[in-house]
Parts: sequence; C-alpha cells; structure tokens
Amino acid sequence: LGNQGLKDFYSNYFPVGVAVGLRNLRGDESVLIKKQFNSLTAENAMKMAPLQPKEGEFYWKAADSIVNFAIKNGIKIRGHNLCWHQQTPDWMFKDGDKQVSKETLLKRLKTHINTVVGRYKGIFYAWDVVNEAIDDNPANSLRNSKWFEICGEDFITKAFEYAHEADPGAKLYYNDYNSELPEKRERIYKLLKSLKDKGVPIDGVGLQAHWSLKSPTEADLRTAIERYSALGLKIQFTELDISIYPWEKDRRAKRPGESDQFTADLEARQAAKYAMVFNVFRAYKDVITNVTFWNVSDRHSWLDEYPVMGRKNYPLLFDANLQPKKAYWEVINFKSK
Ligand code: G3I
Repeated sequence: LGNQGLKDFYSNYFPVGVAVGLRNLRGDESVLIKKQFNSLTAENAMKMAPLQPKEGEFYWKAADSIVNFAIKNGIKIRGHNLCWHQQTPDWMFKDGDKQVSKETLLKRLKTHINTVVGRYKGIFYAWDVVNEAIDDNPANSLRNSKWFEICGEDFITKAFEYAHEADPGAKLYYNDYNSELPEKRERIYKLLKSLKDKGVPIDGVGLQAHWSLKSPTEADLRTAIERYSALGLKIQFTELDISIYPWEKDRRAKRPGESDQFTADLEARQAAKYAMVFNVFRAYKDVITNVTFWNVSDRHSWLDEYPVMGRKNYPLLFDANLQPKKAYWEVINFKSK
C-alpha cells in the first residue's frame, strides 16, 4: 500500500473528500486525512449560524483553520452550505419582534453569501448553495421552511445568483438526501429542471449519500445518475456513509436481535455495499466530480447520535484505530477485477 491513499487510487476518476471539524486537523486523524483525501468539506464551521451568529458579526476562526489546513496540504475545498432550514441563526428571520419581510430576508441572504463566498473567492472550487429544500412528504414540493414561507421558491434562485456573482469561478450545487430514491428523485429533478430552464447559474447536484446496508439499490443509484446528468448537471456524492442500522428516523432503541457490536457479518455486508456503490461511481466518472465521506473514521460519526441516539455506528472505511476496514480494500482493489 505504501503511502498511496484513496486519492491516488482514484486520481483518474474524481477527487475523494472528507467532512472535518477542527478536532480532525491534528494528531493521527490529520495524518490519515493527508494520506487519503484531496478534498475537504467543513462538517459545521461554514454553516450560516457558526459563521454569522449575530447580524454583521462574522466568526471566521474555525472556517479559516480548515481552509489553511487544506491550502497547506494541497487539498481542494468545497463549501457547505449557504442556505439551509437548519443552522440558520434566529436573527435572520426576525425584524424587531415581527417576522422579517421577503425583501429584507433576501438582502440578508445576499450580504451573507457575498461576505462568505467573497472571502474564499478563487479558493473554493464548489459550494453547496442550497441544502435540503425538497420536502420529505411526497404531497409537497418544497420543504415548508421559513425560507419558503417568507420568500416562496425565489430564495433558491436568488441564493444561486448571489453565489455566482460573488465567485463566478466556483461550481454551484444543490445538495439533498434520499435523492436517489425514485419518488424524491423526481421532485428534485423537477426543481433542478426549472432552475436550468430559467437560466439559474447551477452547475450540479449533490447527493448526500447517507446510505445503509439496505439502500440504495444499484438500479436506483444508476437511474438517479442518469436522470440528473441528463439535465447537463455534474454530480457529487457529498456526505457518504453506510450505516449498519436501517434508516428509520426517530428510532431511539435497539430492535430485538440488534447488537452494538460491529460483527463480521455486518462488516462483510458493508464492504459489499461500498464495493457496489464505488463500481457505479467509477462507471459514471465522466459526470461525477467528487465523492466525499461524512466524517473521517468510526472513531466518531454523526450517526453515533442519529437516527439511533447514543448507539455506536460503524459507517466509514477506517475503524476507530484508523485502520482500513474490509470496505476500504473493496473500494481500492478494483484494478484486479
Ligand atoms: O457548536 C455547538 C456547541 O457550542 C454547543 O455547546 C453544542 C450543544 O448544543 O452544539 C454545538 O453545535 C452542534 C454542531 O453539530 C457542532 O457540533 C449542533 O448542536 C448540532 O446540531 C450539529 O449537528 C450537525 C448537524 O449537521 C446539524 O448542523 C452534525 O454535526 C453534522 O454532521 C450534520 O451534518 C448534516 C449536513 O450538514 C447536511 N446533511 C445532513 C448531515 C447530517 O445531519
């Protein structure tokens, strides 16, 4: 294996990235990051509330630390994210004790995007401009967020236009989850097609790829890539992990027969799932421009708290001792196949 990592094995395919916080940029995890990855996403530091907790007061320290680590190590950066129903600071929607007007909210969005995208102009190669705007409820199109309630769907168009004005060189992505499931895929497709038809400056779609041993099927994954790329959009898998628990939100307890242990059977099933999705990724390398894992190793995953509170999950390619798991070997040993 020498000192080659995922980024070297995939140098003819696409950058391979990882979502990080400050805690990952020192010690043994930072060594793993430098060896394995050539793209970084800030897990939280570049969201609206962490960056602009109060109107006009920007907090750059954590974001700049991640940017400096990336620049020092020749690693690309994709920004995450400029507009989301979560982690929007409360002040954004308030005007005194009234709800903010659409005009004022869009002005605040423009200021935020100009300031943030402008600061990293020419450094970031891509941004998640709007995150998770499509509702989970099939009866709706857009999620009933404050953004939608106050602006209608204009906030999406405006967010992309503001980001493009602030850095014309950055590739602009719409990012969402379950975007490979046929029903939600078609509602996302409709939104993206309407943006493209209006000439909105959007370059691609981010499929978050928070997957499990059950989902997605290879057919759904291939169809999603075909459908979105048919719009002339590039595709990124922006938050890849493969949970050992089925994705049923708001689960709070373990089911009969479920163990907290990462058994050999679970490891084999996870390795097979990673092998399948990377076989598909490699087949579509002409439209895929990034694959990023959400968190570095099984030492810590956001899935340790969600959807099953306080239940250890083992969703990534490296174990808690940062050693490659079976899944890692499946992902890199494709040459011999
Ligand atoms: O920084 C504060 C800290 O000051 C405070 O003491 C602590 C307790 O309230 O909260 C800390 O903020 C937490 C933040 O992570 C940083 O650790 C938030 O509560 C917590 O909600 C936040 O969770 C993040 C979540 O997005 C919401 O922003 C997860 O770490 C992060 O993995 C998750 O990532 C999202 C992507 O951005 C979008 N796609 C889905 C994905 C998973 O939800």
